[in-house]
Amino acid sequence: MYPPQEFTTDRLHLRLPRHDDATAIFAAYTQDPEVTRYLTWRPHKSVDESYAILDLILKLWRDGEVFTYVLTLKDSDHPIGMIAIHPDGFKPSIGYVLARSHWGKGYMTEAVRGVTDWLLRQPDIYRVFATCDVDNPASARVMEKAGMKYEGLLRRYMIHPNISEEPRDCLMYAATR
Ligand SMILES: CC(C)(COP(=O)(O)OP(=O)(O)OC[C@H]1O[C@@H](n2cnc3c(N)ncnc32)[C@H](O)[C@@H]1OP(=O)(O)O)[C@@H](O)C(=O)NCCC(=O)NCCS
Repeated sequence: MYPPQEFTTDRLHLRLPRHDDATAIFAAYTQDPEVTRYLTWRPHKSVDESYAILDLILKLWRDGEVFTYVLTLKDSDHPIGMIAIHPDGFKPSIGYVLARSHWGKGYMTEAVRGVTDWLLRQPDIYRVFATCDVDNPASARVMEKAGMKYEGLLRRYMIHPNISEEPRDCLMYAATR
């Protein structure tokens, strides 16, 4: 599976990240402790960390290991978040993040649904899944609204270092065909 370099949904454009997105993603969300609270990484302390993560994201694209898209509104090139596809044979997973200024408008549901629907149209893909921290109901709701079904509690599954050094319980959601 090699996904397209861009997607469009009703209101969003999903495009390849660029090195020069760093200042915009730093200002929009990578430094925001509220956005990163339930994620696997700590808020960026300087824009240099955002440049470094973009370089890693571009390397992972080139190596076919993780396919991460920048989200923009359709009439803008300005990054408001990201969504990533982690390939794993017939069962890729996805992860996502959105700037706080854009929460609550259905944008991430739209992005997750668009990517999930595309993945499940690929002949060799049968399952698309995502997980979230047990205390992140907004993310659980996104998965549910995007068409995934709750499959269960994954105990001590992921470390979310902004909450605890110990692995956290997570919720598993998946869409299948
Ligand atoms: C989780 C996140 C991606 C949601 O993006 P979004 O575009 O605001 O999501 P949507 O608007 O599509 O849907 C959010 C849903 O969660 C609901 N919600 C928000 N906060 C909630 C809460 N504390 N408890 C219960 N539901 C909540 C909203 O009401 C909405 O559901 P509704 O349409 O039924 O009312 C965004 O909040 C985010 O980036 N958070 C930080 C990073 C993160 O947690 N990423 C996911 C890691 S698994």
